[in-house]
Amino acid sequence: MVLGVEGMYLTKEEERILGGEEGWAKAKALEVIVKVGESLGAERLVNIEHAHISGVSYRNIGRHGEELIKSFADSGVRFSVKATVNPIGFDLEDPSSMPYATIDEGYVRHQYNILTSLKAMGADLTLSCTPYYFPQVTSIKEGTSVAWGESNAVLYANTVLGLKTNREGGPMSLMAAITGKTYYYGLHLEENRVPRVEYVLDNKSNMDEADYGVLGEIIASIHEGINPPYLDVDLDEISLREFLAALGAAGNIAMVYINGITRGRVKKGELKKEMIYRKEIESRREELGIKERPDLIYFGCPHAGVDDLRVIASQLKATKRKFDGKIVVTTSRDTIARLGKETIGILRNHGVRLIGDTCLVVSPFGYKGLRVATNSYKSLYYLSKRGIKVSLLSIRELKDVIEKW
Ligand code: F3S
Repeated sequence: MVLGVEGMYLTKEEERILGGEEGWAKAKALEVIVKVGESLGAERLVNIEHAHISGVSYRNIGRHGEELIKSFADSGVRFSVKATVNPIGFDLEDPSSMPYATIDEGYVRHQYNILTSLKAMGADLTLSCTPYYFPQVTSIKEGTSVAWGESNAVLYANTVLGLKTNREGGPMSLMAAITGKTYYYGLHLEENRVPRVEYVLDNKSNMDEADYGVLGEIIASIHEGINPPYLDVDLDEISLREFLAALGAAGNIAMVYINGITRGRVKKGELKKEMIYRKEIESRREELGIKERPDLIYFGCPHAGVDDLRVIASQLKATKRKFDGKIVVTTSRDTIARLGKETIGILRNHGVRLIGDTCLVVSPFGYKGLRVATNSYKSLYYLSKRGIKVSLLSIRELKDVIEKW
C-alpha cells in the first residue's frame, strides 16, 4: 500500500487508476471517492461487489445530471461491478400513465438519454427502489460491501440482507459503480453496526404499516449516532419496508437492528433503553389521518411487492366498485411480470392503475392542494413538501375508506 497525498492509504492498483492508466473517467470517479473519504477520515478504500444507482430521474437531476452521466458514458468506461438502477420519471411502457402529471416529449427524450448512458456503461435497468427483491442482489453473500443510493434500499441491505453500505448519494453510487470501490467508513466497519440503544414499545400489538411509518419518524427524531437502533418487534414484509423507508426519509439512519431479522449477536444487557409509548404513535396517526375525501389513493412507496398487491386485491374483492384510476400502485416491471393473472384481473377490474418504473415522488406528479392518501410515510414526507395534502391510510383501512368514497 502507498500513502495518498492527503493521508489515505491507496493500493498500487488505486494509484495507477488515479494516475489515469485506466482512462480519465475512472481516474475522476476514484478521485471524488478518495476526496470524500478523506474528508470523512477514512483510512483506505474497500472493494464493492454491487452498486445501486439512485438519482436517475430527469425530474430530480435535470440537465446537469444528464450531462454528467453522459460524459462518463461517452468516455467508453464500463462499470466495474454489477449495478441496478432506481426508478425514473415515468412508466417506460406508457409515459402518460401517471395521473396529475405533465410529461412532454422533451422530458421523455432527456430521461431516455440518461437511460442510454447508464445502459452503455453496463447498468441493469431494473428501475426500482427495491433492488433487494432482485435475484442478482439476493445472491450476494452476507457481509459483502456494496455501495447503494436510495435510503430505503440501504436500510434493507444493512438490516435484512446483512450487506454493508453507507447511504450514498446518486453521484457517489455512480462513481462507486465505475470504480468498484468506496471509502472504508461508517457501516462498512463492524464496530459501527453494533446497536447501543434499544427502543422499547409499551404496546406493539396489532400495528399496521402506517403505524410503523410513524414509529420510524419518532425513532429518526430521537436516535443519535451512526450505530443502529435496536428493536424487538414482529412485523410483516409490508410493515418492515414502510418502517425502514420512514426511518430513511425522516432522518439519517442507515441501519436498524431488528431482533429475529438482523444477523449478528447483541449483548442485550449492555443496551441503553428508551421507551416509546403507543399513545405517541396513535396521536401522530390521528394528526396525519384522512380529514377530507382524497383525490387519489396511493400504494407502492417503496415499490410494492407481490405481497402488497395481493393484499390490496383481497381488500378490493369485497366491493364491486370501480375506481377509474383513482387508486394508484407503483411497482417494478419485474413484480408486474411475477403477479398472478387473478391478482392482475382483480386490480384491473376495479380500475386500479398499476404503474411500473417510477413513483409519485420521482415523477412530475401533483399540484398544490391535491389530496392524496397513502400507507407510505416516506411519500407523505416528500409529497407534502410540494404542497400536496397527504394523509396516512393503511391497506387494511382501505375497505372502510372505499365505502365512504
Ligand atoms: Fe421508491 Fe419513490 Fe418511494 S423511489 S422509496 S417509491 S420515493
